[in-house]
Amino acid sequence: MQKKQQKENNISDIMWVEKYRPKNLDQIINQKEIIKGLKNLLNKPNEIPHLLFTGAAGIGKTTTAICLAREILGDNWKRDTLELNASDERGIKMVRERVKEFASIMKISMNNQMENERPFKIIILDEADEMTSEAQTALRRIIEDSSKTTRFIFICNYLSHIIEPIQSRCVVFRFSKVPAEEVVKYLMNICKNEEIKFDEKALYKIYEHTNGDLRNSINILQAASTSGDINILKVQNAIGISGKSKIADVIKLALDSKFNESRLRLLELLYVYGVSETDFLKYANEEIYNLDIKDPSEISSIIAEYDYRLANGAHSEIQLTAFLAQLGKLGIKNNRPR
Ligand SMILES: Nc1ncnc2c1ncn2[C@@H]1O[C@H](COP(=O)(O)OP(=O)(O)OP(=O)(O)O)[C@@H](O)[C@H]1O
Ligand SMILES: [Mg+2]
Repeated sequence: MQKKQQKENNISDIMWVEKYRPKNLDQIINQKEIIKGLKNLLNKPNEIPHLLFTGAAGIGKTTTAICLAREILGDNWKRDTLELNASDERGIKMVRERVKEFASIMKISMNNQMENERPFKIIILDEADEMTSEAQTALRRIIEDSSKTTRFIFICNYLSHIIEPIQSRCVVFRFSKVPAEEVVKYLMNICKNEEIKFDEKALYKIYEHTNGDLRNSINILQAASTSGDINILKVQNAIGISGKSKIADVIKLALDSKFNESRLRLLELLYVYGVSETDFLKYANEEIYNLDIKDPSEISSIIAEYDYRLANGAHSEIQLTAFLAQLGKLGIKNNRPR
């Protein structure tokens, strides 16, 4: 029982995109030529060049980079891999500091006999096309300075947004969109594994909407499955759903001081249904007037406070989780009738 609870607290168990994320290169679908090319490189790990993965959203770029790191570095790959998201980090300064720090730890461990089997550390720089060209130019120096100890895997949606000097330092792999049959087959396997009945036409309907974005396809499948078997109607609802109807449930759970449950439902809304953080608060503000609450104005001012914090760039998941905790306190204070 305790084990089950632990399991359900884990985001990778709630989200199918994480649960079904391939663990090794052989599990990656559709990108056959790329996988073949990467496996060739793996034959001589010491000669692996910097890599640049480009292509549309949700087709396996980040997953492939992680699988590759795992295959090059073995069980301890996490220790020797630095995953940076260029659009999250505040500018090149941060990237430079973290890369420098990482590369210097590497030098120390390179001197250690035991560590010598690992050829280098890996830096995965996701969403590199979000960096300004000045930042990319600065990055070019960093690549050169750390090239003895570090290999970069750049990931981007638009190759044209990457400056030429970085492109020319990398071997470029172009990922292609996942075709209908592959998407449907993948979704079918998930349904079988989750023991959910499905109408094949409904799975094709998901493809029509997502156009080869496997992440989005899996998320829609999961959203459609929350009420049992998958059929076209449920898929249509899942596509049209804003997650709005579920926001009242999250608020209710929080007011009843069921913090863990409300947090999990919140994460599901954000990451499976794709509700944005500000929309969450906006709809919450509408929903509180439909709930049986003595004094909605108190909640309304809490919402305003958190809305302000988000607008100022505070970390959204932390803020919304704290918001739920606040509602819990309020629920206890007002001894809300159930
Ligand atoms: N080629 C693939 N093979 C197997 N699963 C995939 C593939 N592409 C995507 N997926 C699934 O979709 C999820 C998202 O994939 P991933 O993060 O690799 O996409 P991405 O190409 O990096 O997208 P983005 O450009 O939005 O970052 C994975 O967790 C996995 O479940
Ligand atoms: Mg990615």
